[in-house]
Amino acid sequence: MATNPIVARSLDEIAFWSRIMKEHALFLSLGFNLEHKQLVDEAQQFIALFERIEEKLSRFSVNSDLHQVQAFNNEVYQAAAAIWGYKRKVLGLTLRCEIRSNNYPLLVDHISREAAYFANRLKELNEGKLAPTADTVIQENVFFLRIMADHAKFIGHLLDPSERKLVAQAREFSHDFDQLLFQAVDLDSMRPQSETKPILSQFLDQNKVSVASLRDFKKTARELIEACRIKSNIHPLLADHTFREAERFLEIIDLFEASLSRN
Ligand SMILES: [Fe+2]
Ligand SMILES: [Fe+2]
Repeated sequence: MATNPIVARSLDEIAFWSRIMKEHALFLSLGFNLEHKQLVDEAQQFIALFERIEEKLSRFSVNSDLHQVQAFNNEVYQAAAAIWGYKRKVLGLTLRCEIRSNNYPLLVDHISREAAYFANRLKELNEGKLAPTADTVIQENVFFLRIMADHAKFIGHLLDPSERKLVAQAREFSHDFDQLLFQAVDLDSMRPQSETKPILSQFLDQNKVSVASLRDFKKTARELIEACRIKSNIHPLLADHTFREAERFLEIIDLFEASLSRN
């Protein structure tokens, strides 16, 4: 039996992003204070929810029935939308200074954007859209480049200020990705893509080089943090989390390159 690409892609997106959503809930809960008991409880409920989803996912395979996978996509969509709502609520409380926590507003906004991206991917897959069309390739790049630029900023601000060399490196990455992001925005307004195709593939090549070097930086940081060889407020799991998101972006760039060469 031939495997349905929508089934395979759905299971892959759920495997990657459910773990990410679960970890976001953990990071938020660790950033709250003792008086935020209710927000911590809610975070723990989301951890349990995404663990149940992971458990359910393990019972699916690439040979699973498309309709069952579509129903599962719907269910996970609800969970992603719910955690998005929770993150936006935390952001609002933070911006109105109704709570003071150790979660930066940009970090809360960032993880809510990732939840929205996940929910939207599931919706698109249920509409039969497998990979982004050529016209949305740039928008996906805008999304991921901004994510990478944010990561560099978080790392720079969560390292101990006395780790001067690493802080400076993180700042350079932040600048590099801000530039790439603006370049993507410029390219986005030069659509249709049919006219920008060779430029787009050159841009993807450029992105790949920068993402690979940021990924390596995150990998080194993760190893140093795990071995307690540098001073920071970065949870080892957060270091690994941002590393995995960079790897994900690299895989997506490869998918884009394959789809550009096809049409
Ligand atoms: Fe994340
Ligand atoms: Fe992220």
